[in-house]
Formats: sequence, C-alpha cells, structure tokens
Amino acid sequence: MVHQFGDFQNVVYAEALKGIASRYPFDYPSIEEKAAKALPDWVYRYVSSAAGDGRTQRANVEAYSRYGIIPRMMTSPPERDLSTVLFGKKVDVPIFMAPIGMIGLCSPDFHGDVAAATAAGATGVPYCLSTFSQTRMEEVVPHAGGTPVFFQLYLPNDRELAASFIQRAESSGYSGILLTVDSWTLGFRPNDLVIGNFPQFRGFCMQNYYTDENFLKHLSKPPEEDIAPAQRHYATVFAKPLDWEDLDWIRTQTTLPVAVKGIQHPEDARKAIDHGADVIYVTNHGGRQVNSGVPTLQLLPDVLKSAGTTPVVFDSGVRSATDALIALALGATAVGLGRPYAYALSYGGAESLTHYLRGFLAELDLCMAVAGFKDLEELREAGVVRVTG
Ligand SMILES: Cc1cc2nc3c(=O)[nH]c(=O)nc-3n(C[C@H](O)[C@H](O)[C@H](O)COP(=O)(O)O)c2cc1C
Repeated sequence: MVHQFGDFQNVVYAEALKGIASRYPFDYPSIEEKAAKALPDWVYRYVSSAAGDGRTQRANVEAYSRYGIIPRMMTSPPERDLSTVLFGKKVDVPIFMAPIGMIGLCSPDFHGDVAAATAAGATGVPYCLSTFSQTRMEEVVPHAGGTPVFFQLYLPNDRELAASFIQRAESSGYSGILLTVDSWTLGFRPNDLVIGNFPQFRGFCMQNYYTDENFLKHLSKPPEEDIAPAQRHYATVFAKPLDWEDLDWIRTQTTLPVAVKGIQHPEDARKAIDHGADVIYVTNHGGRQVNSGVPTLQLLPDVLKSAGTTPVVFDSGVRSATDALIALALGATAVGLGRPYAYALSYGGAESLTHYLRGFLAELDLCMAVAGFKDLEELREAGVVRVTG
C-alpha cells in the first residue's frame, strides 16, 4: 500500500474549519522555542549544546541552503512512494529517529524512550534507541508495534558487558546495531562544562547499564542504594578507544545488520565495509564531537562514491523535510532526525512527537508531489543543484 503522507495537511485544514486549531507547531523555530520553555534548563542545554564554539553545528544546518532541486512539471504524480530499504527491511518512510542519549529526559514524564517508540509505532518512522536510556532496552521495543527499532551501541571497555548489550538487543527484537565510532571520548562542550552538566554521572539514562549483571557485579552496592560506585564504574567502562578490530569482534557477536555511525571520510567508509559494516552512517554527531566546521552534507557525495552498493544513511542539521529531500536526492538511503524530534517530544510526549513526525512526512510527501517525483529513484535521477559556490 502506498501511503499518502501529505493527507495529514488536509486533516489539519478540515479540523480548522470545525474550529479546531492545531495544538502543535509545524516549523522548526517554533518547535525549538516551545522546547526551550518546556524543558528543564539543564536538559535543554544538554540537547542544544555543541562542541567548541558550535561552528560545526551551524555549518550543518546552513549547508542545505546551498543546494536545491529543479522541479519537473506535467508529470504530477497522484501517488508518491517514499519507501526505502533500511537494514535489509523495506520501510514506508526514508527517515528515522537518530539515537539521542537523554531522549528519556525530553518527555514530560521522563520516559522519552518509550514515548519515542510509541511515536514510531504510530507513524512508521523507525527509532534508534541509545545505549543511554531511561528505560531498559527490553521494555522499549514493544511500544513500537511493528516499526523497526535499532540499538545504538557505545562499545564498553569491557567485553562481557559489550557482548551482553548486543545479545540483549538481539534477543529483545531490535532490527540492527548502530556502532557509534565518533564518541569513544566526549567532545569539549563549553555550554555544558560551565555548569558541569553531564546527566549520566547523576544516574540519568543509565538503565541499560544498571539492569545488566555484567555491570552490577562490579559494584559493592546497587546504584539505587549508593550511586558513587556506579558512577566510578561507568567512568571506567565508557568507552573503548576504538579500532577496526572492534568491528570484526562485533561481527562475531551478532547476526543482526551492523551500521557504523560517525563516518565522514571516504577511506573510513571503505574500511568499515571491509570490516563487515552493512550500512555506513554519515554524521558528525550534530557538531557535538569534532568542531571541524565541515558540514556532513558536503561530505556525503564522496562517501557515497566510496561505499558503492553499500547503503549510506545520513544525519546532522536536518531541520525540515526540504533538508531531508536534498540528502535523499544526493543518494542517502535514509535520513536521521536529531534535535528537532527531541524538542518535539518536550511539550506533549508521544502525542506531540507523533504530530511532528506526521507533519514532517506530509511536508516530504508534498515536496515530492509538487516537484513531480513519484518515488526516491526519480528524485535521485533528477539530482540536486548547487545554488551557490
Ligand atoms: C542530546 C543529544 C544526544 C545524543 N546522543 C547520542 C547517542 O547517545 N548516540 C549516538 O550515536 N548519537 C547521539 N547523538 C547524535 C545524534 O544521533 C545525531 O547524530 C545528531 O543529533 C544529528 O545532528 P542534529 O541534531 O543537529 O540534526 C546525540 C545528539 C544529541 C543532540
């Protein structure tokens, strides 16, 4: 069945005729503004902060305005097919929710992982659960219904714990492992440093660790009785300085597809594929790690060339469906949403996030419609145009 995501727009207009105004905004600036009011200051600060002076975060966002698409006329596709293949599974939408440690804190009930999975179930937008989760991984995945959920792995510096995370993800129904390779240590984030804002050290979003016997066996007391030993042990196991042999090892631990998240250089894409990656994930962590100043959108074409037939997914700086469309037109298999969905969760939990995702999909679908592309293949064939030098 082909979903017409654009129909959401008609529902909104029809409700307005009955005097029912939309409860939630549709544009990114209003979404961020509402989140800044709804979230506790330290949570908003954590989500919005970036490495260094934030130039990479800004460059990510600004990059999209240098690209455009030339619409085609008299081809008016009455139905659009936005489906793609993600981790070997056909999905109806070419977007997904990227892993956000602390998403648990972004929902008013502080169970944002469950709320995000619920919104995934309601919209068909796949969700990636971070290693840092307020709710243990086993309890999150059932809320997504049949929508795929992926598990993002920060590889612990303890093989038993690492193997356990992977096995737990596999046995509880996750559809793939995303190995994050750009954050084996924390980037320098002045806006958090100034108030010493690192929620994990205060025990937030640690449920995957605190429910794992391979973590608990190293503690003198359980975390709920004494948090200090848990904090100390966490600091020793997060995270392993990575090398390519770690990817070889992960491959021996699971039959699930593995994506390598954090690739920016074409040679790293090649190496990841040589070491068994099923998917390349181009991202700079939303400018939170290396403050390079280089937007990921600019790096995507060379990585695509190097990856050949291996699927490449992408994120960083996507703030509207038009941004996603450009990355898809360049050749990304699917595009990840980051901060915007964390903000959309903050003022109404699963309900406001579902509204946001429906709006995003409607915009994407309607962009395809008015530009004259019936599916992603046609969009890719049309390609993108660089607007400015
Ligand atoms: C608050 C926050 C927490 C994040 N936590 C994780 C994480 O736990 N694992 C991970 O791989 N990436 C994490 N990321 C990076 C996102 O997956 C994604 O790459 C990034 O948000 C994209 O940039 P954008 O938000 O500017 O679009 C985090 C990003 C933010 C903003």
